[in-house]
Amino acid sequence: LFGLPDQAPHERVLLAADAETGLKAILAVHSTARGPAFGGCRFWTYDNELAALNDALRLSQGMSLKNALADLPFGGGKAVIIKPAGQFDRPALFAAFGRAVQSLDGAYITAEDVGTTTADMLGMQAQTQYVSGIPRAGAFGGDPSPKTAWGVFVSIEAGVKLHLKRSSLEGVRVAIQGLGAVGWHLAEFLHKAGAKLVVTDVDAAKIARAQQLLGAQAVGIDEILSADVDVLAPCALGAALNSVSVPQIRAQLIAGAANNQLATAADGDALQQRGICYLPDYLVNAGGIISVAREYRNEGEESAVMAEVSRIGERVAELLERVKLENSTPGRVADAWARAKLVKPV
Ligand code: NAI
Repeated sequence: LFGLPDQAPHERVLLAADAETGLKAILAVHSTARGPAFGGCRFWTYDNELAALNDALRLSQGMSLKNALADLPFGGGKAVIIKPAGQFDRPALFAAFGRAVQSLDGAYITAEDVGTTTADMLGMQAQTQYVSGIPRAGAFGGDPSPKTAWGVFVSIEAGVKLHLKRSSLEGVRVAIQGLGAVGWHLAEFLHKAGAKLVVTDVDAAKIARAQQLLGAQAVGIDEILSADVDVLAPCALGAALNSVSVPQIRAQLIAGAANNQLATAADGDALQQRGICYLPDYLVNAGGIISVAREYRNEGEESAVMAEVSRIGERVAELLERVKLENSTPGRVADAWARAKLVKPV
């Protein structure tokens, strides 16, 4: 339990349970070296409690790297709530979760992730001040997913220029796996820039919408990773890039929103050997945390947040430069770069 192999151990992991509401949650504080651990809360069905713990540990560690690379004055943390099997009272469940967050006295700050909404965050404010991603009247705040999508978009733009050596996204074929909160906004940005979209989702209505509104081509969920495209954007759940999918990928560039896209570091090496440029998820998808972090610190203004998110494109360019110099892979270079920043910012 004390950290993943070869990785820094977690500082604190809280198992929070509440019999009345059915809450079973894991709050994982990976690192507070840069500041309080900041990362979203996932609400999900897990096969068993160990799977939920593993998810929380992996995701919170990813947040340490993400927040460090984005130069945020925050450490890395993440929470996972195991979705109750039967009926449950959602506001009461999230209130109990809010109390668990508060019990950490600010060591962990929460926000949205897969399965949680702005309404959940808003409801929790009565229990804890350590929550962000809340719509605020007359001020910046709320759903981080459009900002995450913008960060992915500028990363794709940079990767297309530097790796595919194409000057614009006009006519570039992009496959998007998952048209959820981030995937949909990304599809809109790409369509506007002239890219040709190939999409899939488990939800047929989302596919139909992309066909109608964005002229997207639809493929089955088993076909998206091997689609004949220039760019692949995994925007569903983790481990899409694994020993089965990697040999089949035809895209030359991978940049998407999903956390923990590589099943193992060896899959990153395999991509590199195939000449495929994989832009690390925690670099590319930092737009959302940049947004909720600014909101939390009350430094929010739409234009300033967007400018900060756009800097992700510059970091992608710097990363690819470092990869060339160090003759390594983007995943390994980004990892070392982020780990070197796991110290208190000056
Ligand atoms: P979401 O739940 O709104 O969207 C996920 C979409 O993927 C849904 O439409 C779902 O139907 C679809 N999906 C699920 N399994 C699929 C499969 N096997 N094949 C194709 N589609 C499938 O989640 P959201 O917020 O868009 O996040 C997507 C990913 O990005 C997650 O991994 C999340 O952790 C990550 N992320 C999200 C951020 C945000 O701001 N929302 C920030 C950083 C990372």
